[in-house]
Amino acid sequence: MIARLRSASGCLLLLYVVTHLSNHALALWSLRLADAWLEWLSAVWRWPPVTVLLLTAFLVHLCLALHSLWRRRTWRMSRWEWAQLLLGLSIVPLGMTHVIGTRVAHELHGVHTNHFWVLWPMAVDPWQNARQMALVIAVWVHACIGLHFWWRVKPWYPRVLPGLYAGALLLPALALAGAGVGLGSVLAILDDPQKMQAAVAATRPPSRDEAADLHFLSDLLKAAALGLVIMALAARQVRTLWLRRQQGVNLRYAGGPTVAVPMGLSLLEASRSAGVSHASVCGGRGRCSTCRVQIGGADAQRLPPPSRDEARVLERLRVPPSVRLACQLRPPPGAYDVMLLLPSDAQPADAYRGTSVALGEERTMVIMFVDLRGFTALSEKRLPYDVVFLLNRYFRSVGQAVEQAGGRVDKFIGDGMMALFGLNSPAPTAARQALDAASRIGRALDELNTAMSAEFSSPLRIGIGLHIGPVVVGVLGHGPATGLTAIGDTVNTASRLESLSKDHGAQLLASQAVFDAAGLVPAPGEPHEVALRGRTQTLAVRAVADVASLPLS
Ligand code: FES
Repeated sequence: MIARLRSASGCLLLLYVVTHLSNHALALWSLRLADAWLEWLSAVWRWPPVTVLLLTAFLVHLCLALHSLWRRRTWRMSRWEWAQLLLGLSIVPLGMTHVIGTRVAHELHGVHTNHFWVLWPMAVDPWQNARQMALVIAVWVHACIGLHFWWRVKPWYPRVLPGLYAGALLLPALALAGAGVGLGSVLAILDDPQKMQAAVAATRPPSRDEAADLHFLSDLLKAAALGLVIMALAARQVRTLWLRRQQGVNLRYAGGPTVAVPMGLSLLEASRSAGVSHASVCGGRGRCSTCRVQIGGADAQRLPPPSRDEARVLERLRVPPSVRLACQLRPPPGAYDVMLLLPSDAQPADAYRGTSVALGEERTMVIMFVDLRGFTALSEKRLPYDVVFLLNRYFRSVGQAVEQAGGRVDKFIGDGMMALFGLNSPAPTAARQALDAASRIGRALDELNTAMSAEFSSPLRIGIGLHIGPVVVGVLGHGPATGLTAIGDTVNTASRLESLSKDHGAQLLASQAVFDAAGLVPAPGEPHEVALRGRTQTLAVRAVADVASLPLS
């Protein structure tokens, strides 16, 4: 709704600006022709219903600008967003005198606002001249940036871009050149007292008191606009201070950092403030869908439902409910797992592509299975409370090891775990990350055993299986149990290698292909050939007795 209001009001204001600039451009041919065209334009724009529409569009656009100032939680923005914001804020102070001196002067005091009237102050006052030029540039660039962010995700945009570029440069250039020619004509009139008297009389200028009133009104409206901006910024600051005292939001980025951010930020703003590169082709306006994420975790059910605008975009992509637009989603306090579904350098064309990972895609990944050895016997002599406590400490240790290495915990199954490497990285990196994770798990287990030695007579032992190969990755499941996972022979093989690691008396049994992909030469561990159910040929593997001895990447 907000996006549509912004577009509709912006388009109407832009139409007004285009007709205005085209009128100035006509002065290149003749000031009289420009004046004749101005009469026609004035008849249209000053027609009461159109005036109401135009004024409404201006007020709506202004309110939306204040709303977006208030809503913005971080000042980390792209250069283009900064430019659009600052240029937009400069329009009222730059343009108010012009509006009051023309339209309002006409309505209140019957001033005939022809070209002479508009250009006269500019001809005698260089400051007015510079301000008017700055106004044209600010309005035009602000509008062009807005249109660019809106249209860049449309499939037809690249085709018409050269024509739009030409128009975007030509119209203001012609208008400024026309204003220059008009200024020359006005200066010539000012040099001739007789002509000047006639020209001034034709404009029916306001009296001295009326002119003073108009100046006062202009200053008052500029001050009011400035006051509104200051109020929006102050309200934003108060809200920020209040939110800092509230419970925060914990975000675990798949293959990235875990960050805590204040409540109220959109996920896109959270990514930006945490330094996570996050695609946002439309600049966070909820139009392009390139910021889309898959969101899960313990508190995912508490997320607010998508707004109408967000739901419309998600529907177009046909993605599961766990996929959301990061620029529109403001998670309540809680812990969430976040997976970016498009690379940070996503292009406008990606806006119209479905989320291939979410919908199913084949890619080469490394799959890890980890199992706790002899846990059943260990747990038999324990209270349920102790079992849960121990398992959670163990899960935390291995989960953190996987994430620190750049992998993603797929699921915990009983006392075992499955992890994925390569969702956002090429196969060699994924292989190195997986071996790194195995090493970290070994070290974490050693620390856990030392910490728990007083409570357990025998240390915890693990078995790890690693294999690399093609998998089908996609979002599978039903209801709250829906999540991104991988399936295929590579997954089954990794699981069997984990089971076989026990027979080899090793903590890790990994296929030789994992070491080859990681470029680890010489590869650590003992080489073996193993026969696996469902495979006609044996598989070259390496058994590593102590995973903590593997090098950290
Ligand atoms: S950044 Fe474009 S939809 Fe979120």
